[in-house]
Amino acid sequence: MITMPQVLTSDTENFADALLMLFDAGHVVVNWNLGCPTRNVAGRGRGCGLMPHPRRIDEILTYVLHKTPVKLSVKIRLGYHDPDEHLAVLEVLNQHPLTEVVLHARTAGQTYLAAPDIDRAEAALALCRHPFIYNGDITDVSGFQSLRRRLPGAAGWMIGRGALTWPFLATQLKMDNGIALPKDGCQGQLRPDDARLLLREFHDLMFADYEHWLSGPRRLLDRMKAQWSYLVHCFVDSASIATRIGRCQDVPSYLQTVDWAFEHSLHST
Ligand SMILES: Cc1cc2nc3c(=O)[nH]c(=O)nc-3n(C[C@H](O)[C@H](O)[C@H](O)COP(=O)(O)O)c2cc1C
Repeated sequence: MITMPQVLTSDTENFADALLMLFDAGHVVVNWNLGCPTRNVAGRGRGCGLMPHPRRIDEILTYVLHKTPVKLSVKIRLGYHDPDEHLAVLEVLNQHPLTEVVLHARTAGQTYLAAPDIDRAEAALALCRHPFIYNGDITDVSGFQSLRRRLPGAAGWMIGRGALTWPFLATQLKMDNGIALPKDGCQGQLRPDDARLLLREFHDLMFADYEHWLSGPRRLLDRMKAQWSYLVHCFVDSASIATRIGRCQDVPSYLQTVDWAFEHSLHST
């Protein structure tokens, strides 16, 4: 598995410095995020705030690609306010040697709520001369199959919330039907108890990592609660699990509640 770091900046010097540092750390491909819609990012001309400024994007790419040996992947949205802003941005991106373009098929104003605009994604795919990665609402096998029919030229697919809500999704999509057990590679339907064990293992690894990296129980609990806002949807009884997890005020009661949650049934795989 390759980890691709992501950079969120509009400052050419800082961008080049960050790329050089990442290169020294062993990363040869880095993603530039032109999709982040949050106000303190986009409102300050970074992330999606750059989408209305294709000439600035051109200047930044020209500078950093000449300064560093790192290859760039770029993630965009349809636009900041206007869903056609990506057309001019794609023309610029086509002039640079990129590894791929990822399109999140919503505007910044649509955040994560509106349905992705597949018609515009289809047109963008035709316009893009780089490997094109589609992103937006990939949540299940049948929806993914219909997207593949609409975008047969896509070079890849990025899953967002679908993977947080149902961590087995990527494997499930790869198999197209049924699940390959990640542990031993065996194919077929995952039994509910096995799915529960895998999910518990996933939770425990995530908890141990966050415990290691975050300072203090408050931040650890906040981060785990944020994960649970997605993970609860794995469980049939999601509402009561969400309530109990939300009430936890310290790590021991959190871990007790997690044990209790994992006694509940998962949705069928
Ligand atoms: C809580 C949250 C955090 C996110 N953080 C990032 C991020 O750091 N970098 C990024 O490229 N996208 C980020 N995204 C956007 C997702 O990668 C993805 O583009 C978006 O959720 C649309 O895909 P989806 O409809 O499948 O969820 C984030 C999304 C959410 C909901």
